[in-house]
Amino acid sequence: MNILEVKDLDMSYKTIDGDVEAVKKVSFTVKEGESFGIVGESGCGKTSVAMSLLQLQADNGKITNGEIIFDGKNIVGLSESQLREVRWSGISIVFQGAMNSWNPVVKIGEQIREAMREHYPDKTKEENTKKIIELFDIVGLDSSIIDRFPHELSGGMKQRAVIALALSCDPKLIIADEPTTALDVVIQDQILKEIRKVQEVLGLSLIYISHDIAVIAEMTDNMAVMYAGSIVEMGKTDKVFSNPKHAYTKMLLESTPSIVGPKKKLRSLDGEPPSLINTDSYCSFSYRCPSPDDNCRNRNIEMELTKIDSEHYADKCCINCG
Ligand SMILES: Nc1ncnc2c1ncn2[C@@H]1O[C@H](COP(=O)(O)OP(=O)(O)O)[C@@H](O)[C@H]1O
Ligand SMILES: [Mg+2]
Repeated sequence: MNILEVKDLDMSYKTIDGDVEAVKKVSFTVKEGESFGIVGESGCGKTSVAMSLLQLQADNGKITNGEIIFDGKNIVGLSESQLREVRWSGISIVFQGAMNSWNPVVKIGEQIREAMREHYPDKTKEENTKKIIELFDIVGLDSSIIDRFPHELSGGMKQRAVIALALSCDPKLIIADEPTTALDVVIQDQILKEIRKVQEVLGLSLIYISHDIAVIAEMTDNMAVMYAGSIVEMGKTDKVFSNPKHAYTKMLLESTPSIVGPKKKLRSLDGEPPSLINTDSYCSFSYRCPSPDDNCRNRNIEMELTKIDSEHYADKCCINCG
């Protein structure tokens, strides 16, 4: 069964220069117990998708079209109080740098209990503490951390505690948005393994977001490649890796050292994602594409994912480029 169905989602930010179309016609589904990856360079719209799912986008951001069906119900347009029910206990998020958002003057355990009290008002402090100890065990933290202040913990420990916080209200879906980017490499690897373990042990659904396609390979069952606010390729992670179709996916793969291997030549990621204000071409990749033609920049054509096979789709414009 699908835990999440995103259909034709559009989200934009109002700015003095015009509307930034950060999420364009994004559709994907996440099954129960599945790990779904979203990859793309910085500025492609990954965080905007994540925040839209929780409807926690910045004040100048607005969902302008589409549905987000979570656990069978469209949550777009729900009231703040209805959304509070969904957040944490339905969908929770671990975001980049979350470890720095702990309140410095309140003990870690107390901060987690505070979140739990809102969703489980009938549970006692002892019951909540017991649950926190169980969660700490799962994420590899000692129970004594409950009584520590944030500054007494290392970066890796703080981020593990964030994962425990995200799990504390029994969500069905966890979104991890670049959760390890601020950590050093060894700790990154440990945290990745921890998240994967938690997801599998608890049977959770996971949306894992990263700019690093090698991490997506390790962490996910299915994946989407985002470019300039749109999904340009999507499918079973194995298939996207073994048979990439979109020129942008190929470019990401050919520029990742651990995938290319030591003997082959690395391709540098030339250019950068376009500004998303008043986009003027049908294929957003046309300005970086190795083999664009006139049609790619024809505004009258709509982007469309074409079926490669039943578990693999790519934007029809760019499947023969690159
Ligand atoms: N509050 C905001 N106001 C205006 N533009 C924004 C805002 N937040 C993000 N953007 C723009 O939206 C686009 C997508 O950003 P983001 O979702 O953060 O991408 P990613 O997470 O892939 O790096 C970028 O062009 C970014 O500059
Ligand atoms: Mg981001």
